[in-house]
Amino acid sequence: MARREDDEVRHLTDIPSLSDADLGEILARAEAIRRGEAPSPFPGSIASIFYEPSTRTEMSFLKAMDLIGAHPLRMLPERSSVTKGESPEETVKTLAAVGARAVVIRTSEPLLPERLKAIGPGIVNAGDGCHEHPTQALLDAATLIEVKGTLEGLRVLIVGDHLHSRVSRSSGRLFVRMGARVRLAGPAELTPPALAEALGAGLAEDLEGELAETDVVMALRIQKERQAIPLVPDLGEYRRVWGITKERFARHPDLLLMHPGPANLGVEVDGEIVDDERSLIRSQVRMGSFIRAAVLGMVGEASI
Ligand code: CP
Repeated sequence: MARREDDEVRHLTDIPSLSDADLGEILARAEAIRRGEAPSPFPGSIASIFYEPSTRTEMSFLKAMDLIGAHPLRMLPERSSVTKGESPEETVKTLAAVGARAVVIRTSEPLLPERLKAIGPGIVNAGDGCHEHPTQALLDAATLIEVKGTLEGLRVLIVGDHLHSRVSRSSGRLFVRMGARVRLAGPAELTPPALAEALGAGLAEDLEGELAETDVVMALRIQKERQAIPLVPDLGEYRRVWGITKERFARHPDLLLMHPGPANLGVEVDGEIVDDERSLIRSQVRMGSFIRAAVLGMVGEASI
């Protein structure tokens, strides 16, 4: 998270630039909002641009704006001058001229939010291609803290398409930083050892054996839309080898389940266990609004 000279938060584009102080403050503010404490009001407008589709991230950012009393400027790319070729830079400059103090952006282009930081409004990355999804990582960490009290010593297994996953990168990195023992599992072509090393995570080869040594399993979505060449040609085979099936989940009665959503039900996770009492999937979504309200509040305060 980038800070102003007077030490206020200006942008949130990735996890590595988030200081320990920022991290602690976001989690503390989100927890206070979750408990029902009124967040500081945000006197102004926040724009959102989702160049890529979203349900939970976009809706929870809008809910977050509501929680902090900000006026939402929801720009729909397909009904905007993006269709006439307007660039992200020109779009953000235009939204700033309209009065947006902060801009929430989702894009397929890695590092675009980083590039837009120089323009003026606070930039909040809502997912940039395969690069980062920092508010997802924060809500995932907050969900685990809510249930387990801490990430220190927690054994987390992330299973699936790490190659194309911004969630694996952001959440994996943050979990490790907060003291969890993280391992990545998945097909070799989707689980680069260099990525595991960069995150400070280990590699797991055999799902069944690994689950016996795991407290929390996070299944990742098979991202067909990001695979130019289909790397998972047989989804049934994928489920058999790497899926969190209802049978597998039942064999590990203390295991907790996470998934960032949207899930390919019956592929990486069975639909029957999404609402199991050991599933945190709905809690992750609920936590999203609180985390995003905390982040937007801090970015908004720095923009005044
Ligand atoms: N987890 C996540 O980013 O989901 P959406 O694409 O629905 O926002």
